[in-house]
Amino acid sequence: VYATTTDVHKKRQAPGARDRGFVDEMRAVAMSLHTRDQAKEGEKEANAPPVAKWEPSVERYLRFLVDSKLVYDTLETIVQEAAYPCYAELRNTGLERSEKLAKDLEWFRDQGHTIPEPSSPGVSYSSYLEELSKKDPQAFICHFYNIYFGHTAGGRMIGSKVAEKILDNKELEFYKWDGDLSQVLQNVRDKLNRVTCSWSREEKDRCLEETRKSFQYSEDIIMTSIS
Ligand code: HEM
Repeated sequence: VYATTTDVHKKRQAPGARDRGFVDEMRAVAMSLHTRDQAKEGEKEANAPPVAKWEPSVERYLRFLVDSKLVYDTLETIVQEAAYPCYAELRNTGLERSEKLAKDLEWFRDQGHTIPEPSSPGVSYSSYLEELSKKDPQAFICHFYNIYFGHTAGGRMIGSKVAEKILDNKELEFYKWDGDLSQVLQNVRDKLNRVTCSWSREEKDRCLEETRKSFQYSEDIIMTSIS
């Protein structure tokens, strides 16, 4: 049921097997910011224990889910409100996670767990995204790509490890997508390539340069909550 690294790898088309667009550039920068133990293409030095060594607890994992929900709520509101017309293209992609997370939190509540308030890594990322989305669509789209696509790859690996260790392998809604995920991802890649094709080289570079920040914010949420 859960994706392993190899599954994730197999399900993704080999680079070159599809139209090369700006998404390939965003992906290449993202992959270079992984460590070798996170992904084969990773280049960064590891400064945290590998996922296999994490010792999650339900309490900390709930913090991660709550912070993640705040970030997805924020992204999904931003594209609904569409301060820039290109955001409207990113509505209803099939990758939305907010409702799925609401169901998962309901399940934890039914199990007798207390759902915490969002913590500072989630709150900081959410307010950063709100501000950024109003003034810099290129940088905002970098976060949109990294959050949604990263979750379908490394995010799923984290989910399966945690489920194995503390949830008796229960598969949460957060890790389920309606329809064929690889097709959904391809449709979103096509949309992102369309939205970004009119950008100047300078705008594209500004988007790529934002990748590091996107990793920092997401890693803050992952690290303080799970490992
Ligand atoms: C892809 C692992 C954190 C963004 C991947 C892949 C793996 C992976 C195995 C798939 C590589 C392939 O296609 O063969 C991990 C692990 C992480 C982590 C274990 C943390 C423990 C992050 C973070 C971000 C991120 C923090 C950004 C916020 C991405 C993106 C892709 C990716 C954008 C490309 C997805 C695609 O090809 O469609 N990651 N990752 N990852 N990851 Fe991560």
